[in-house]
Amino acid sequence: MSSSFKSNDNIVQSINTEDYFPISFEEIESAAKQAMSAPAFSYIASGAGGEETVKKNADAFKKYSVIPRVLNDMSNLDTSITMFGRTYPTPLLLAPVGVLKLADEQGDLAVARAAAKYQVPFIQSTVSSYSIEDVAQAASGSSKWFQLYWSKNEEISFNMVKRAEEAGYEAIVLTIDTITLGYREADLRHRFSPLAQGFGQGNYESDPVFLSTLDKVDSQTILQSIITNINYPALNWEHVKRLKKRTSLPILLKGILHPKDALRAIEYGVDGIIVSNHGGRQLDGVISSIDALPEIVKVVDGQVPVLFDSGIRRGIDALKVLALGADSVLIGRPFVYSLAAGGEKGVEQFLANFLQDLQTSMMLSGVNNVKELRQLPIVRM
Ligand code: GLV
Repeated sequence: MSSSFKSNDNIVQSINTEDYFPISFEEIESAAKQAMSAPAFSYIASGAGGEETVKKNADAFKKYSVIPRVLNDMSNLDTSITMFGRTYPTPLLLAPVGVLKLADEQGDLAVARAAAKYQVPFIQSTVSSYSIEDVAQAASGSSKWFQLYWSKNEEISFNMVKRAEEAGYEAIVLTIDTITLGYREADLRHRFSPLAQGFGQGNYESDPVFLSTLDKVDSQTILQSIITNINYPALNWEHVKRLKKRTSLPILLKGILHPKDALRAIEYGVDGIIVSNHGGRQLDGVISSIDALPEIVKVVDGQVPVLFDSGIRRGIDALKVLALGADSVLIGRPFVYSLAAGGEKGVEQFLANFLQDLQTSMMLSGVNNVKELRQLPIVRM
């Protein structure tokens, strides 16, 4: 496969189109709803509180309009980006989502393989259904990043980071907006916690440091100890400092919405920032990610990459946030729904379509590459 997707690559034709797979986000979502149990679908779809921020994330995109340029010879379209000294063929990453066995038995393994096919980095969650080593083996040679939920016993965190390093993962994403789980009314209504049901223990049950902290190794003790470790309201900037000392990989903080926190992250030596409100799943009522982005891009001023998460559904959404100055874009719910609706092939088809959509959007905006996208006029109305 080429090292970037050019305008003459027909991505869609490279996969088997005989098996129908829904095209639009809305159709994929409704196929996922059919395929999953009601509590499982609801866990993925819902947000915190009254879901004000879930709605804001989607609605805010409509306020931004692109003013395209024309007659710009688009025959050499290039979607590649460079981050942390590496070239990635697309400006996309798959966001960290835990407990993926809820959507498909193959969970992270299927997603990592599909992502590898389109050279989109897969960010594996701490609470993934399969271990770092299983995922590394299933999709060897592809780009993978590791998302860290801090453990109360921090030697567990450091050991997971070490395992990710040893497995060839390229960056660590520390999630900082989940010091406790958001107040999710749908999950409370369903009395549903996939973590408590054992869908997210792949990295723990394979971690010698974690296992050495248990009085006995049975499933109840494992689950209880995961929950005790992961609820960690004490997380603060000193932990970031300590993590910095324990890894040579780039560290990104995921969950920044305030420009002052972005600047603080840089003071603490962080290598990248992910503007995110966790898909509206943590604190309801917060600003949409796209509205938070421009001010953060402005204050960061190119010192470190600024990535974007929360609300990406289509190629044009990715184009808008790249035009607003994001360096790269994370996709969340759409790939999870694709996994539920069509397994590994579903994720492949979704990625093929999304890339086609992004390429088309770039061409019709008159921008040849992601750098040029930054010059594209975009207005907020
Ligand atoms: C956990 O990160 C979740 O959003 O459910």
